[in-house]
Amino acid sequence: MNIILIGAPGSGKGTQARRFIEKYNFVQLSTGDVLRAAIAQKTETGLLAQGYMDQGKLVPDEVMINLVEAYIVQQSGKSVIFDGFPRTVAQAMSLDSMLKKRALKIDNVVYFKINPQVLIKRLTGRRTCSQCGEIYHIETKPSSKGHICEKCGGSLAHRPDDREEVISERFAQFEKNTGPTIEFYRQQGNLTELDSNRDPNLVFEQIIKILELAN
Ligand code: AP5
Repeated sequence: MNIILIGAPGSGKGTQARRFIEKYNFVQLSTGDVLRAAIAQKTETGLLAQGYMDQGKLVPDEVMINLVEAYIVQQSGKSVIFDGFPRTVAQAMSLDSMLKKRALKIDNVVYFKINPQVLIKRLTGRRTCSQCGEIYHIETKPSSKGHICEKCGGSLAHRPDDREEVISERFAQFEKNTGPTIEFYRQQGNLTELDSNRDPNLVFEQIIKILELAN
């Protein structure tokens, strides 16, 4: 089974993807995490991506498509949860054809629908473990160990693109590019909307129900 989580920045895709892979036998492809790792390692892709990410722009389709195809080859046969890809119609069409080539398909696209007014607060308050990637929030999900991750002892960091001026550009990119991608999947008939304004436990329950998985 292959699933796409799609939604605005801060709508909770990463939080739910992490919970999901803890419980079910899926691998997660977070294109944002892959790009941040490439930046940290100063690879060619990382150096190119950083300029776009710092401004809240999308990294060019060609770069993203090559990166995802390499991942699919590596993970052959496993169920994948795509978090943050595709974000443009061109990426969605390429994903369809790279899966089709391998007799695979997307089984469900879960759209995290959210009230845009809550996004700034969610993102400016987010803290992420620089070691294991665990996601916290200074008000709604603080670490009991302050600036240290409860899970692995790594230090918690504020993402450079979680500043208000960058968040508004990220949201504009979402509306411009990902809005049409959502419509693309709606027309294909495999899009399900969920209410991601709700408590994370309730959101998780909704996903399990949508995907008809055993709880
Ligand atoms: P990426 O890392 O994918 O960021 P994003 O899509 O903007 O999503 P976020 O990670 O910000 O949010 P999320 O929905 O995962 O929310 P989270 O669960 O953390 O991409 C970053 C950049 O990389 C892009 O801008 C672009 O430049 C580039 N890029 C990546 N993929 C690309 C692609 N395919 N094409 C081109 N460029 C690409 O939650 C946020 C906060 O809210 C947390 O603090 C959390 O604790 C809290 N929270 C979560 N759920 C709830 C809830 N239900 N109630 C209350 N609080 C909640």
